[in-house]
Amino acid sequence: MIETADAEPEYDDTAIRFLEALWGEGYLSPGGPDEVDRVVEGLSLKGKTILDIGCGAGGVTLHLVATHRAARATGFDVERPVIETARRRAAAQGLEDRVSFVQAPPGPLPFTGSSFDVVFSKDALLHVPDKDALFAEIFRVLKPGGVFAASNWMIGHDAEPSLEMKAYVAAEGLSFAMASPARYAEAMRRAGFTGIAVRDRNPWYREVAREELARLKGPLYAKAAAAVGAAYVDKNIKTWEAMQKVLDSGEHRPTHLRGWKPVG
Ligand SMILES: C[S@@+](CC[C@H](N)C(=O)[O-])C[C@H]1O[C@@H](n2cnc3c(N)ncnc32)[C@H](O)[C@@H]1O
Repeated sequence: MIETADAEPEYDDTAIRFLEALWGEGYLSPGGPDEVDRVVEGLSLKGKTILDIGCGAGGVTLHLVATHRAARATGFDVERPVIETARRRAAAQGLEDRVSFVQAPPGPLPFTGSSFDVVFSKDALLHVPDKDALFAEIFRVLKPGGVFAASNWMIGHDAEPSLEMKAYVAAEGLSFAMASPARYAEAMRRAGFTGIAVRDRNPWYREVAREELARLKGPLYAKAAAAVGAAYVDKNIKTWEAMQKVLDSGEHRPTHLRGWKPVG
């Protein structure tokens, strides 16, 4: 077997420590368990099998099992540090028998067809450039009658991003491939999803992000600086300031998505 080295991780141990200081243990995206609950609102996950795409440090995956009583959850991510962190968190919570974490390179999902009742994702799909291939894969691994439910960071349009948006994405320094809610819905339709629902979360996150920035500059600064160093926190304060501009303009558009794989 040929061993291939992992690419340099974007979510390395320092990024994980910083984001967890801001968003809570196991969470690399905003809103904590309450926002996860809103993504799956009205769905019963009890006894279901779940795939969590872009699971990061595992907090979301573990919440879906521990609180929503899914039978089993599989967290999938392309990066090693987040998967190692997620496995430690599962062990600490005694959930290893119901949760597994899988790392594989970007591309086709490393799962057989029709194997999950629910495919979930939280703020990870923006990293995947080919939206049509992504949804064809999500559709393939869902069981007939299964549901896809996600939150994702999007851009409000598919035209050239504004200078403010370009400055924000550059400040993040991450591999963002943002697309509009309409582009995502179109990719879902092409894959075969029905009952597609799109919910704008910009009004919520633009206020939450303002509070995050205030905490970073104020009460959280010393704790975050102790975890990752002051320079890292200062850089992220600049990123949050750039992000706030495009949240306030509406161009940065966190969005919930939902759709169903038809039974027959
Ligand atoms: C903002 S973090 C969110 C993590 C987690 N869902 C959460 O909410 O805490 C984005 C995650 O997407 C992962 N990611 C990036 N590209 C991916 C891909 N092609 N497939 C799956 N996950 C990917 C990253 O490694 C990272 O863990």
